[in-house]
Amino acid sequence: MSTLVKNEGEFDASFPVKGKDFADAGLVSSKIKQRLMKKGISEIAIRRAAIVIFEAEVNIISYARKGIIRYYTTTDSIIIEAIDEGPGIADIELAMQEGYSTADDAIREMGFGAGMGLSNIKRYSDDSEISSVIGKGTYLRSVIKI
Ligand SMILES: Nc1ncnc2c1ncn2[C@@H]1O[C@H](COP(=O)(O)OP(=O)(O)OP(=O)(O)O)[C@@H](O)[C@H]1O
Ligand SMILES: [Mg+2]
Repeated sequence: MSTLVKNEGEFDASFPVKGKDFADAGLVSSKIKQRLMKKGISEIAIRRAAIVIFEAEVNIISYARKGIIRYYTTTDSIIIEAIDEGPGIADIELAMQEGYSTADDAIREMGFGAGMGLSNIKRYSDDSEISSVIGKGTYLRSVIKI
């Protein structure tokens, strides 16, 4: 795993995500999707990456102050990282459970808050990890085989 850790400049692209900015939800996902399509990566891998990025993006918008989503590809994988500055997740195991959500009315009115995002990220990734520091933020990494 450590050989896969990269510096900012080695990512193919990095996109900022603003908290509470629901109007932009899905923008980063579709931008990265278009970039992956130009690389000739299989449709199924791109679709999985787009789901992972969309869920990470909506979570940053819903729960964090701000964050970034960045990615790079290798000969066999798409590697996605979502890093935010926000409240963090107190109990990651609980947050991963299908149906668990702390979404408020504003988030639910936007059509989110089913408590499926993190479990879908896990499901559509070949490998994923989440870590969090309370009061600081959350780090998510997803690897999708291409
Ligand atoms: N980046 C984050 N920062 C802080 N808390 C988060 C973050 N992402 C998720 N959470 C917490 O984990 C819970 C579960 O997240 P998950 O994405 O699975 O569901 P949801 O966002 O509530 O609903 P859905 O994703 O189905 O719209 C959230 O309700 C929230 O409490
Ligand atoms: Mg979510």
